[in-house]
Amino acid sequence: MNISRFGLVILASALAWPLAAHSDDRSDLDAQTPDPRLLLPFEKQQAIRFVAAETSHEEWHKLPAFWNAGTEEATDPETNRKVTRSVVRIKVPLGLSAPPVPDDNPLTVARWELGKALFFDPVLSADGTVSCASCHDPKTGFTTPTRVSTGIKGRQGNFNAPTLVNVAYQRFHFWDGRADALEMQAQGPVENPREMSDDDGDAWPRAVQRVRRGGTYRERFQAAFGTEATRDTIAKALAGFQRTILSGNSLHDRAVLIAKKRGVSPKDREPIAPVLRDYREAIEDAVQRQDTPALSALMGAQLAEIEISGPEVRLLAESLANGRKIFFGRGGCHECHRGERFTDDGFHNLGVGVVEGKLPAGFEGRIKSLPVGRKDAALTGAFKTPGLRGLVHSGPYMHDGSLDSLEKVIDFYNSRGEANEFLDLRRRDREAEAALLLSVRQKIQDRLPENLLFGKEQKLVIPLRLSLGDRLQRDLVLFLRSLQGDPVDALVADPKTALR
Ligand code: HEC
Ligand code: HEC
Repeated sequence: MNISRFGLVILASALAWPLAAHSDDRSDLDAQTPDPRLLLPFEKQQAIRFVAAETSHEEWHKLPAFWNAGTEEATDPETNRKVTRSVVRIKVPLGLSAPPVPDDNPLTVARWELGKALFFDPVLSADGTVSCASCHDPKTGFTTPTRVSTGIKGRQGNFNAPTLVNVAYQRFHFWDGRADALEMQAQGPVENPREMSDDDGDAWPRAVQRVRRGGTYRERFQAAFGTEATRDTIAKALAGFQRTILSGNSLHDRAVLIAKKRGVSPKDREPIAPVLRDYREAIEDAVQRQDTPALSALMGAQLAEIEISGPEVRLLAESLANGRKIFFGRGGCHECHRGERFTDDGFHNLGVGVVEGKLPAGFEGRIKSLPVGRKDAALTGAFKTPGLRGLVHSGPYMHDGSLDSLEKVIDFYNSRGEANEFLDLRRRDREAEAALLLSVRQKIQDRLPENLLFGKEQKLVIPLRLSLGDRLQRDLVLFLRSLQGDPVDALVADPKTALR
């Protein structure tokens, strides 16, 4: 390259960078190499470890609370010296495995405290009015109870804010899955003009500078990461905190545990699935312990005192067992909502928001976020399968927040489902489609009805309607309610509850 052209490139990048006059340059604001002298000494670093029932049964049972301070033997990788240092063991709620933590962002108490402080601090928004918690409010299930959420200067977004409960396990983030790690996701809101940015294109550098100037952040970042606050470390702190927003031990999990204790089914060697009597035992136990959150979630009403008679418990248990059967059977729900979080981490077009066979502009879904060269037309209008563990507080539902109750969601699967060219195969009535095609081939009918043909190819699409009766629909709703986990621990959910 000739020298004068090289000089021009430097000049051009300086012009494009209005903050260059500052001592910080952009790369310094994005990330820095950690200085080990600033970091907390190894023996003072408090690691946070997740202990799950499934993998560390005995240890899990002994832990009395969600957050347990203790000690551990550890070897300092630099000096090879063995030290005893404090550690926090998080008792992962029943039904969940230990959340994955990336190697480049190990969780420590110092990082977690920073993440928590930033999550509730409006410092990341351009005008200091909006925090992550404004839209992901712990008081309303780490989401907003409105169709879409309101960000900076009252601007409204297009999408329903997802709950952050159990977000640690999620493979893809955002409705179109455009981020594949929580650290990546955290880049989004700060520079989104509908959320926290004021549009000038320098949202992140300015946010980093505000954090550096604010309160005690400077020392705390140095101790936790060995660097100043940077875009990288702010994202890491937020991600670490969000990994602890956990909720499990639902009535369903308890019934599964009770069933498991009965043993393994001889037929398929799988643990026995819960049936009526297991649900009954789980409900009776909750009534006895006056477990208001679990029973309020189940009954769909905030209960002050729990008085449920024996026959009522039986009816509830019967409905739950029925609901479970439909979910895993005739309803086909488990085809997409499966595993411990009830999601396949996939994307599907259910026809939500489709009008007269067409997707509204701006709602192309997964196809839009796939990189060029990896586009899959079948994922047009496809959105992420949400997990189902926090539904009681996370309405309204779907990517556009268009369904405001669980009853309406079930009604959607039962009798609606808007046909369109890209409707997921599992949501199409393949039998009805085949019968219609056959009747045309056999000339019983002239041609296919116009209103069932979609797209350039004029593809025949008939949405699957479950056609469950009222009773079974109610049972299915009750089953969804029974997946609601315990409230998220106050240490995580309440900004005022601090570590001692
Ligand atoms: C103005 C409201 C608003 C603010 C402020 C906000 N979010 Fe969100 N958040 C949303 C919406 C809406 C979505 C879904 C957007 C989409 O899918 O395109 C979302 C998605 C997410 C997701 C992905 C969840 C999932 O299931 O895919 C995470 C994680 C998240 N936000 C964390 C944060 C963090 C951390 C902050 C603060 C730095 C924050 N949000 C600030 C509204 C907001
Ligand atoms: C083909 C895959 C698939 C099947 C089958 C399926 N779902 Fe879904 N479910 C999804 C997707 C994808 C979404 C989000 C759709 C959107 O917003 O466009 C969703 C959304 C939901 C929601 C709303 C969650 C939220 O947080 O907004 C509930 C509740 C739900 N499904 C329950 C069920 C039940 C009950 C069944 C069985 C009757 C079922 N699903 C069958 C894929 C599926």
